[in-house]
Amino acid sequence: MAKILTLTLNPALDLTVTLEHLQPGTVNRSHALQAHAAGKGLNVAQVLADLGHQITVSGFLGADNLQPFEALIAQRGFVDGFIRVPGQTRSNIKLVEGSGRVTDINGPGPDVDESAFAALLERLERIAPGHDAVVVAGSLPPGVTVQWFAQLLARLKALGLKVALDTSGEALRAGLASMPWLVKPNTDELGEVLETPLHSFSDQQAAARRLLDLGIEEVVISQGAEGVTWFNAQATLHASPPTVKVASTVGAGDSLLAGMVHGLLEGDTAESTLRRATAIAAMAVSQIGFGITDPQYLVQLQREIRIHTPAAEQEG
Ligand SMILES: Nc1ncnc2c1ncn2[C@@H]1O[C@H](COP(=O)(O)OP(=O)(O)OP(=O)(O)O)[C@@H](O)[C@H]1O
Ligand SMILES: [Mg+2]
Repeated sequence: MAKILTLTLNPALDLTVTLEHLQPGTVNRSHALQAHAAGKGLNVAQVLADLGHQITVSGFLGADNLQPFEALIAQRGFVDGFIRVPGQTRSNIKLVEGSGRVTDINGPGPDVDESAFAALLERLERIAPGHDAVVVAGSLPPGVTVQWFAQLLARLKALGLKVALDTSGEALRAGLASMPWLVKPNTDELGEVLETPLHSFSDQQAAARRLLDLGIEEVVISQGAEGVTWFNAQATLHASPPTVKVASTVGAGDSLLAGMVHGLLEGDTAESTLRRATAIAAMAVSQIGFGITDPQYLVQLQREIRIHTPAAEQEG
């Protein structure tokens, strides 16, 4: 098993309110309110922990609402490398109606200033060595510039860690230039950054080739229910996920990323790496929440996934 660091620069407290029917502008009554510590790097950390890895978590947490985060970190036995900053970690409110409609209200993060950023860099210099990989996932909080972000990724790389990156927009653009080991954009995120829509397989192939040419080793492009295509110097593989009843897609991308990092670090074959990762993502979609909650179901899902080398690749 590996030692893996995950970095969540902009975590969130997810507040899920369930109610029959939302009537804006009136007093509404909810059935339940659930709060849980979230953020892409923390999600990836939990799936990697389910897969048996030793996890250190880092990033920024607001000092005023630490409890759910510290509880999660303690419960999962993660090493806590988070820097505390003044203010509150943002809250993302999800209003879930009986019909299944979901309204999201995402809050702002706490301001991260230069001294907090310097503290994170300094902390990482101390704690990162000895880890096999670092997963950097999610958006940047207010105050963190893409220049700082690029500097951070460069430092992690210089410390000898394999950097796996999952972000979007300007942060993804800056991140690609830092030549991470692995990237996992979805087609929209990568299309936006490369300024070209990625509708067909050959669009994706051309985009992946640009990233491989930059020196990125593993390019994993996800496309929701249509599955995922994985490009590297050896091969191109596409996985078609099984049909599952969608309960919530929260954590699908994070689960896929965790599964890919797991298979690659374990030295598993390409096919079984992609098969397992796609099954973990499908399992996330089939449940509220994510993680390896039912190992037998995971085995069944793995059997139902079709892996093949896309045709345009064989011709080209
Ligand atoms: N409806 C679905 N059925 C089965 N598998 C799915 C479905 N939706 C997503 N997945 C799986 O999850 C993977 C990641 O999904 P997606 O491409 O939507 O990631 P994402 O946009 O990064 O998601 P996230 O919102 O978690 O960041 C897909 O490649 C696929 O394997
Ligand atoms: Mg994603």
